[in-house]
Amino acid sequence: MTGNDAELMALQQAAKTRHEIEAAITSMFAAEDEGLRAALETAKQAGLPQIQISPIQGKFLQLLATMCNAHKILEIGALAGYSGIWLARALPPGGRLITLELNPDHANVVQHSFLVFIDADKPPYPQYLDWALRLTRPGSIIVADNCIRSGKAFGPAENADIAGIIELNKRIASDPHLVSLVLAMDDDYTDGFAVAVVKHQ
Ligand SMILES: C[S@@+](CC[C@H](N)C(=O)[O-])C[C@H]1O[C@@H](n2cnc3c(N)ncnc32)[C@H](O)[C@@H]1O
Repeated sequence: MTGNDAELMALQQAAKTRHEIEAAITSMFAAEDEGLRAALETAKQAGLPQIQISPIQGKFLQLLATMCNAHKILEIGALAGYSGIWLARALPPGGRLITLELNPDHANVVQHSFLVFIDADKPPYPQYLDWALRLTRPGSIIVADNCIRSGKAFGPAENADIAGIIELNKRIASDPHLVSLVLAMDDDYTDGFAVAVVKHQ
């Protein structure tokens, strides 16, 4: 066996271990129930792209919404409502999920203080952040998806999508009103959420 073969085997083993860990965490902490599975099936039947967040990410959003005692949640980019279901389940009675979807074909499939989840088109991510900052208050949480992009999200900007993400990362990392971090939790740990909490001054 050559050095290259041994390295390849080690990489394959590491990838297998990561997938096993992800499957174990999903099954123990983020198993999909009938409602979530039905939402995915409905989206599939309607021919929508399968670009929703993972169950672990859904559970993480739920955790954050519960942590900040969110009574209102704003989501930008609903697709078929999969992430919306995870988020809505963290709301107390009388709480509200407001979810925005540009594409009417997607919006028709969706069925439903402050957590803002940004998961739409990437170039205006900084503008969505501006709006999120206006709407939130101390203790609120802002989450944006796809903020690692295999490392491209830290520059240089190779296109408008990446430029939007880089700008959002820079702003949340340097805004003195926020405590923030980017967490690898998707696509074999090469993509994930940017999470920011609005500080109590
Ligand atoms: C990655 S998908 C959202 C996935 C969803 N959050 C989930 O995990 O179940 C992105 C969605 O954003 C929508 N979108 C794109 N630009 C938008 C905009 N400017 N305003 C609202 N939605 C937009 C797209 O039509 C698409 O359905």
